[in-house]
Amino acid sequence: SKLAILFGGKSDEYSVSLHSAAAIINNVPEELFDTIFIGITQEGKWLLYEGSADKINDDTWHKEKLSPVLLNMGDDFKGFIKLNEKDNTFERIEIDCIFPVLHGRNGEDGTIQGLCQMTDIPFVGCDMTSSAVCMDKEFTHIICEAAGIKTAPYVAATNSSKLNIKNLYDEVVEKFSIPIFIKPANNGSSIGISKIRNYDEFERGIMEAFQFDNKVVIEKGIDGFEIGCAVVGNEDLIIGEVDEIETKNDFFDYVEKYSQHNSKIHCPARISDELKVKAKIIAEKTYKALGCKGLARVDMFVTTDNRIILNEINTIPGLTDLSRYPSMLRKIGIEYKDLIVKLVELALE
Ligand code: DAL
Ligand code: MG
Repeated sequence: SKLAILFGGKSDEYSVSLHSAAAIINNVPEELFDTIFIGITQEGKWLLYEGSADKINDDTWHKEKLSPVLLNMGDDFKGFIKLNEKDNTFERIEIDCIFPVLHGRNGEDGTIQGLCQMTDIPFVGCDMTSSAVCMDKEFTHIICEAAGIKTAPYVAATNSSKLNIKNLYDEVVEKFSIPIFIKPANNGSSIGISKIRNYDEFERGIMEAFQFDNKVVIEKGIDGFEIGCAVVGNEDLIIGEVDEIETKNDFFDYVEKYSQHNSKIHCPARISDELKVKAKIIAEKTYKALGCKGLARVDMFVTTDNRIILNEINTIPGLTDLSRYPSMLRKIGIEYKDLIVKLVELALE
């Protein structure tokens, strides 16, 4: 079938997407899929890219002259319209499935998913509603709490002229103890997140997070460490291995996520079998509560007294062959290439 792989994106996680997409392009079985690649620039332009994955990886893919493409919204055909700017003509590119290999805003947050739903073109991953709810850390908290899934104590706040940061700090420290995490409600890869211990840091952390979103989620720092679990499927779910993040830093921030100088991923996690089973049950419960489809990586904390608390869910987790999500599935016998095929099959179901 004809598969369109979308990469890049008008997102703070543009570069992360380039690596995920290059790995997928290098591993997608040619005998099964006829692929086209659509690059979305950081400014939001959609371009048809016909070059190598290497140039996606090193972000030189857009250096050549590329044709703009539009997603066709009519019911005449499913696919893209390629604009030939030289002679003002256009071509139809019919598509059976879209794989949005995009992270964060405008990719993982329901926007692209909504566009795909309007065209009736099947696409890999969660639908618009589920993507939007999973992207927004406040809404994730609200739904998971309602579903009986434990999350960290939190307070959400929106940026407005009425916001008094001192009052917010007082409200927060009355509710829970420091250290505190301040997160943009909508972002990924730990961008804009700070760990804070006093009012000065709090003020700085709030200002930092507001650079990325106009809503922040302030959470109690959990004493313990982070684990994750991969989930694949629509109705019948496959639960991957549980992994563990060991970090010497304050937290697993953007630099550590992609360099791992002071961190190490252990897969499987170095926890008891009993805790692993619990983590898998929570991962599955979270996936279902949030209406996920296709794939997601569920991130959790193991507390010092061996409880499991949900951190967040990522509906398009890092997808290079060495990323956590594919690694957790490889441990249960699903190779990277087979995972790519499986994800497209789930979209077409
Ligand atoms: N947001 C990044 C891509 C992740 O969760 O892996
Ligand atoms: Mg995330």
